[in-house]
Amino acid sequence: MTTANKKLDKMRVQAQLGGGENRIQKQHDKGKLTARERLDILLDKGSFTELDMFVQHRSNDFGMENNRILTDGVVTGYGTIDGRQMMVFSQDFTVFGGSLSEAFAEKICKVMDMALKIGVPIIGLNDSGGARIQEGVVSLGGYADIFLKNTLASGVVPQISAILGPCAGGAVYSPAITDFVFMAKNTSHMFVTGPNVVKTVTHEEVSMEELGGADTHASKSGVAHFACENEVEVLQNIRKLISYLPLNNLDDPPESEQQSSSNIAQEELNALVPENPNKPYDMHRVINIISDKDSFFEVHADFAENIIVGFARMGGKSVGIVANQPAHLAGVLDIDSSVKAARFVRFCDAFNIPLITFEDVPGFLPGTEQEWRGIIKNGAKLLYAFAEATVPKLTVITRKAYGGAYDVMSSKHIRGDLNFAWPGAEIAVMGPKGAVEIIFKNQIADAKDPQKETERLINEYREKFANPYVAAGRGYIDDVIKPHETRSKLITGLKLLETKVDSNPKKKHGNIPL
Ligand code: HXC
Repeated sequence: MTTANKKLDKMRVQAQLGGGENRIQKQHDKGKLTARERLDILLDKGSFTELDMFVQHRSNDFGMENNRILTDGVVTGYGTIDGRQMMVFSQDFTVFGGSLSEAFAEKICKVMDMALKIGVPIIGLNDSGGARIQEGVVSLGGYADIFLKNTLASGVVPQISAILGPCAGGAVYSPAITDFVFMAKNTSHMFVTGPNVVKTVTHEEVSMEELGGADTHASKSGVAHFACENEVEVLQNIRKLISYLPLNNLDDPPESEQQSSSNIAQEELNALVPENPNKPYDMHRVINIISDKDSFFEVHADFAENIIVGFARMGGKSVGIVANQPAHLAGVLDIDSSVKAARFVRFCDAFNIPLITFEDVPGFLPGTEQEWRGIIKNGAKLLYAFAEATVPKLTVITRKAYGGAYDVMSSKHIRGDLNFAWPGAEIAVMGPKGAVEIIFKNQIADAKDPQKETERLINEYREKFANPYVAAGRGYIDDVIKPHETRSKLITGLKLLETKVDSNPKKKHGNIPL
């Protein structure tokens, strides 16, 4: 072997060691994997190709001139997931705590530029103490460079972030701009300021986990879409998510030949919705029966559970599911559920993933808490998202479609392509009791037996309006179908809509009510 080759080998070995064996041991002792071990799990075996291994920082302050480490704390490059190309970066906490220097930021920007140029997803594994303190404003500039690229890449290639360690200050904003955020329980944290600053400013005592752990962000703030038990689960779930997504906004989602049938008898649907309209049922069951076998992959499962969003396959094709959940708050639309679903709808629309909406919604949640926090502008986000979406849109009303929520949930009026209702559906301005008490107020008051009169009027109203046939009679519903027919109607509908072309008026961008 030539001397030059030997030198290269030596440098490669050195780069693999990052911040050294002691720091790698410390990383393992915390229950964390190293940057390279994570890439080995994320990508197909042996597919990772590294770029910029020889990059080092350029700082000469605070003794940094004597401490230069190959890679400078972020491993970047490309590899495959199920044979499909991805650009990746993986921050290495063993090198200067994974902190972001000028050179470190340049490495990330380089793989992001490549992702945009070739049209492939960018996956970032974050484990970093934030801005490299020794580099000062240069490091802040590096973050801003990344934020700009995140923004420009938004809606062009899927961007996925895993939080696998500390993530504080500006470091949380790059993941927040990306499409999906994964966290690992107990070993990953995100916050704008940590517990010490919180204590100083607000006098609150709060642990790292409570303030910014995986469960907090997956259930309370909604910042994280997935809270996984550990790092391996995070990485495996990113692989799973990728299996539903196209490589870029001009690509079609991949089709799966396997498991393209449901394993559950569709007849179960006929008895799934209770006769009593006030009784809940689990919309997950509806989704699982209708989707391809075991294909439903829920996003944001622990946040705003009154709406369900996630990816599934129908006859092998990727679809985005949005579904009211009558088993949680009766499936009502509130601020969190509207925002959660709006962001999901916009992702699917940006990446050519057809939307299937299952609707059972009693309306928007009343009350001062919701009104004062802006249910009007937040509910409008979901309305806006469904209205602007031009991907195939299929809707199934399983039971209630009341009030403004009827319009919002991918109705015909906002360009729903195929809108179906089950025979027991109730489509009206409001539920029978509320409606009767308003429009027959005087009649009920004058009645000999107000209770009996109310019941009579409720039955009359239900008979007249709380059914799917008024809407179907006007063509607002394309067909009333038996529940067990739903899967086949959706699959043939998706096939019909494969060649759909629709667009919005030319503009710089719309002004979604943020
Ligand atoms: C340089 C850093 C660093 C940083 C950690 N290190 N953070 N080096 N810049 N920001 C180094 C440490 O000196 C140490 O080096 C090694 O990384 C591991 O750090 P420890 O503190 O020993 O690890 P641990 O106890 O696990 O604590 C991790 C930590 C803590 C919670 C991340 O290091 C920490 O609080 N760091 C500072 C976080 C921070 O305030 N960052 C700035 C955020 S503001 P040795 O050589 O001993 O191994 C920001 C602005 C961006 O990011 C704004 C963009 C708009």
